[in-house]
Amino acid sequence: MSWTAIDQDLCNQCGICMTRCVMNYQEKDGVITSSANAVTCNLCGHCVALCPTGAITHHKMDMENFVDIAKGITYDPEAFRLLVRSRRSHRLFEDKEIPRELLEELVDICRYAPTGSNRQTVEITIVQDRQKIQRLADHTVDFFENHIDELEKEAKECEAGDREVPQITKSALTMLQTLKLVVIARKLGMEVIFHRAPAVMLFHSPTETSTPKDDCVIASTTVTLAAKTLSLETCYIGLFEFVANRYPPIVEELGLPPGQKVYSILVLGYPRLKFLRAVDRKPMKVRWL
Ligand SMILES: Cc1cc2nc3c(=O)[nH]c(=O)nc-3n(C[C@H](O)[C@H](O)[C@H](O)COP(=O)(O)O)c2cc1C
Repeated sequence: MSWTAIDQDLCNQCGICMTRCVMNYQEKDGVITSSANAVTCNLCGHCVALCPTGAITHHKMDMENFVDIAKGITYDPEAFRLLVRSRRSHRLFEDKEIPRELLEELVDICRYAPTGSNRQTVEITIVQDRQKIQRLADHTVDFFENHIDELEKEAKECEAGDREVPQITKSALTMLQTLKLVVIARKLGMEVIFHRAPAVMLFHSPTETSTPKDDCVIASTTVTLAAKTLSLETCYIGLFEFVANRYPPIVEELGLPPGQKVYSILVLGYPRLKFLRAVDRKPMKVRWL
């Protein structure tokens, strides 16, 4: 049985479904039929969303959760530009917990971010337990304190063996001075990993999917913008990504589902500082081919 059904009383034979999805919609003797299945359909839902008469039902999707956008929503380009420009990294947060329903709202928004092949394998771990956050921060600095030399050794071994140095190791090595400063900062009583934020959001995915890192970063970036609409601010924490999948005490503390890796990390909270100006950035280098 096809994963999608066409109500022939509603279908006006416009053929938009066939134009969009030649794999799953065919016309014969003036009647359009569908043949969607696990091989041919990746649950993008385009057919349902495009059908002008609402004739198509998808049996594998929640039809109640298709929202009517037919009237057209206009987006103010300047407002969007300012949203992007006013997302800044916040590293000072109010000592105030984020209500669960706001975090749930952010999680829900991520469902609608795109994923490679529409695989939708991104998962999220939210840490709010302050002691756990502190433990994760401490493990991170422990790693930098004790294993920087190993990173350098690993890179040299890869180069000697004509193997590619893993990107994450390369990135860590470009930040050696920062990593050493992180160690010094802890000695001075500072918490520069998660910035004492009330919540840490980890975006993880099975490694065996087409675009796990992209999927997680798109989801986390969606959250950085959505958070602002809820008066929350964020900061990406790449420092934690260096260690999240490789340092046993952290791997154990996180207890991710088997086969998964953390690909993007955010801290979130109510900001203590308010930016009054959107800043300049370097011009984008663009090639027009
Ligand atoms: C992928 C990525 C990783 C980052 N990792 C960290 C981090 O570990 N700690 C931190 O304090 N800031 C981190 N940042 C924040 C950057 O330093 C910041 O985005 C940059 O300086 C630009 O400032 P803005 O975010 O306020 O526009 C990271 C940003 C990105 C995009």
